[in-house]
Amino acid sequence: METQTYNYKVVRQFAVMTVVWGIVGMLVGVIIAAQLVWPALNLSEIGPWFSFGRLRPLHTNAVIFAFGGCGLFATSYYCVQRTCNTRLFGGKLAAFTFWGWQAVIVLAAITLPLGLTTGKEYAELEWPIDILITLVWVSYAVVFFGTIATRKVKHIYVANWFYGAFILAVALLHVVNSIEIPVGLFKSYPVYAGAVDAMVQWWYGHNAVGFFLTTGFLGMMYYFVPKQAGRPVYSYRLSVVHFWALIFTYMWAGPHHLHYTALPDWTQSIGMVFSLILFAPSWGGMINGIMTLSGAWHKLRTDPILKFLIVSLSFYGMSTFEGPMMSIKTVNALSHYTDWTVGHVHSGALGWVGFITIGSIYYLLPRLFGRPQMYSIKLIEAHFWVATIGIVLYIAALWVAGVQQGLMWRQINPDGTLTHAFIDSVSASMHLYMIRVLGGTLYLVGMLLMAYNTYRTIIAGKPVDATIPAVSQVHHEA
Ligand code: HEM
Ligand code: HEM
Repeated sequence: METQTYNYKVVRQFAVMTVVWGIVGMLVGVIIAAQLVWPALNLSEIGPWFSFGRLRPLHTNAVIFAFGGCGLFATSYYCVQRTCNTRLFGGKLAAFTFWGWQAVIVLAAITLPLGLTTGKEYAELEWPIDILITLVWVSYAVVFFGTIATRKVKHIYVANWFYGAFILAVALLHVVNSIEIPVGLFKSYPVYAGAVDAMVQWWYGHNAVGFFLTTGFLGMMYYFVPKQAGRPVYSYRLSVVHFWALIFTYMWAGPHHLHYTALPDWTQSIGMVFSLILFAPSWGGMINGIMTLSGAWHKLRTDPILKFLIVSLSFYGMSTFEGPMMSIKTVNALSHYTDWTVGHVHSGALGWVGFITIGSIYYLLPRLFGRPQMYSIKLIEAHFWVATIGIVLYIAALWVAGVQQGLMWRQINPDGTLTHAFIDSVSASMHLYMIRVLGGTLYLVGMLLMAYNTYRTIIAGKPVDATIPAVSQVHHEA
């Protein structure tokens, strides 16, 4: 019988690009963080192209959709083949998703500095690129669900449920939020207006967090944590409850981004209540991930990949505790518009999304290039520590800056006038912004170590495509 192999080529391509785009996106992050300290770095004499306003969306698009996106494509394609015991469905369609997604990223990198934007956060790309995204995403769904449909094992492993929900939800969010009327090749207007536009945008924005930055990465957690720990998921039953509770609850929480706005008050309250409920499934999932290590805690001491994976879960727990708290209207009255939000974002982004992706890619690379392990375990360990110190500096500085800003803005003199001018709160934050630049730089240095380790691993090995085992040999692959 002819031996069949898994399609590792597309996984390899996405895995390598995760590292590349991670460096690009985080470098832009460090640059915009530095611009907030040294405004001359906006290079305004040359033109508007490198200004904060233009580079900020470049940063968010690069880290979320290029770094995070490539990580999600790589790991979901690997996981779905391995757990379905079959080759990726769709042949060349998988290759199209790779090249199509890279084209989207390159187009974003060109158009955003040129100032071509819809102005909708996390959905800035103009309509022709939106259409390309839709084509790539539908192909992704065909490849992923086609693989599930042609699987050789009966059971659909829970990680695939999370990846599947992420793919379906992002398709829905992208299409609904991007309905726009083109008035030229690079200019369009949304069909929604006023408070409705805001509501649709933050239904999208929040679920971009919920499904792009969370559900997909939970798929990663359910595959790579048990694999690296060499243990089954702590509670498979809990993982299923976790899945349904999470996807049901997330969709309703969007209005917490629009507290005290023109949005009807009752919708704000619904957003707050569902955000509070969201704490339960989030922590259920986090505990399920961490407890997978039961009986294998000692591995944490020697295995830096496991450190990345488990610490990512701690940050997930932290940001999903903080999020519900910030959604309480009275807390939000203090935190909104301040750097507390940006601190919250990055404890999720650097700690959860970044670490789970980095850990999973370290797991994948040697397997994709026929090596027993990464070129240097010590370098992974070094990466873990510089990045962890970087995150702590970043988020601690912004928490302090955020709370300080919120308190300064609401301080009132006995005669009812404001005690501080806005600029006072900016000046008071400067040294904290410098600490963020330092923290971000450390995190970036970690990524450079990863890039070197990746390069050495690749040149020492050669691309391999593992053979698919005969069905009788398959137990429950997890
Ligand atoms: C070296 C690492 C990083 C640095 C130095 C950095 C820096 C920054 C800065 C300076 C901002 C603008 C904040 C503002 O407008 O006041 C920002 C925004 C943002 N970054 Fe990063 N970032 C880094 C990594 C990441 C990663 C890995 C992700 C996601 C996976 C991410 C996601 C975001 C998001 C979503 C925003 C928008 C936040 C908001 O609107 O509240 N960042 N980042
Ligand atoms: C139970 C889970 C969570 C809840 C209830 C929650 C809640 C919140 C709240 C209330 C805000 C502030 C809104 C505002 O004042 O403008 C916020 C902002 C944000 N959160 Fe979370 N959060 C959660 C988890 C996460 C995680 C895990 C991440 C990501 C990696 C994340 C990423 C973000 C981003 C990117 C923003 C800024 C959006 C913007 O203004 O551009 N959140 N979240």
